[in-house]
Amino acid sequence: MPYAHITGWGMFVPEPVLTNDDIAKMVDTNDEWIRDRTGIRQRHIARENEFPSTLAVEASIKALQVANLAPTELDLIICASSSPEYIFPATACLIQDQIGATKAGAFDLSAACSGFIYATNMAAQAIRSGSIKNALVIGTETLSRFVNWKDRNTCILFGDGAGAFVIQASERPGGILSAVMHSDGSGADSLTLLGGGARYPATEASVHEGKHFIQMDGKEVFRFATRVMGRATQESLELAGLTTNDVQWIVPHQANYRIIETAAKYLKMPLDKYIINVDRYGNTSTASIPIATVEALEKGQIKSGDKVVFVGFGAGLTWGAMTVEWTGPIPAKRHVYPKRYRLFARLRSLLLRAVRLIEGFLSRREL
Ligand SMILES: CC(C)(COP(=O)(O)OP(=O)(O)OC[C@H]1O[C@@H](n2cnc3c(N)ncnc32)[C@H](O)[C@@H]1OP(=O)(O)O)[C@@H](O)C(=O)NCCC(=O)NCCS
Repeated sequence: MPYAHITGWGMFVPEPVLTNDDIAKMVDTNDEWIRDRTGIRQRHIARENEFPSTLAVEASIKALQVANLAPTELDLIICASSSPEYIFPATACLIQDQIGATKAGAFDLSAACSGFIYATNMAAQAIRSGSIKNALVIGTETLSRFVNWKDRNTCILFGDGAGAFVIQASERPGGILSAVMHSDGSGADSLTLLGGGARYPATEASVHEGKHFIQMDGKEVFRFATRVMGRATQESLELAGLTTNDVQWIVPHQANYRIIETAAKYLKMPLDKYIINVDRYGNTSTASIPIATVEALEKGQIKSGDKVVFVGFGAGLTWGAMTVEWTGPIPAKRHVYPKRYRLFARLRSLLLRAVRLIEGFLSRREL
């Protein structure tokens, strides 16, 4: 059975930064309150011409570069997002087209902030089954589009960004060792975005009632998160035959500093084993774990051979954890330049659209 390794990683955040002081100009809040209760100092906000797919493409190309893998070699793309570009088509298909992943299957996965762990686990299982060799997993968000900037309960929390992993098959032991995924739909009401789906399609009334904004019972979510984070970490470690003593790093979902602190206490682990960057990005939902991982790798914190646990929770309710033995890129003699495929992808996409147009024109004439 092949092992599934994380061989590439990339992140991208939009340039504009929104500080707590900026938010204090919009709602009745202040920097000190936000920092005390959440640990957040600032977040990045997408420009008008930036979307989940465009952020994801930047992160994905970087991940492919690290993995030294051409987009044309990808078998599967899974995009986890809480703020997908459309209900359909899948954001994953837009990414597939823009990076030139000519032979990849592509789909979106909806598990809110736990989505990246779920997606990585799905890709790892497909690799271990032997049915695919190379997968791209993405978490990408422009949650700022769904935030009610008049609601101080939620608008302080979220930020935009994307992160991506390349997962590859290898005979070398290690890589993704275990994962657990959980859900509890009885808690569905505590964190929602109701508008635009089949129950509340967009109408004047649905927009007027603010159904297209994130709604949250903050206290309820806080209690849930602190309950499940430690337990899920332990479960995943047990499945991998490890204990907290074997772990070098925990990369938690970056929702709130206090939630991470409580989880660390539960596991009796020092906070300096936790990768924390919620102060600079806020909660980027599916993108938070890969963004934190990429930063930790770039700082030289996570190293080859380290045991790392990813743990997350989110709307649904969903939660999960994954244990990884970090290995890094698969050594190769040949050097590929995934960036160069972007031009090829653009030309290919234009050509396919033109062919479709001509085919449509000819078939109308034949009728
Ligand atoms: C949202 C959250 C930061 C609120 O913190 P809290 O300590 O629970 O705060 P409360 O909601 O109890 O509010 C305490 C007081 O601060 C006020 N308050 C709420 N938001 C405020 C803000 N942004 N600025 C200033 N005051 C605020 C409340 O109105 C309340 O005032 P009152 O005591 O006069 O009624 C916290 O509950 C949280 O982080 N929950 C988890 C959310 C999350 O992670 N969601 C994403 C999951 S993926």
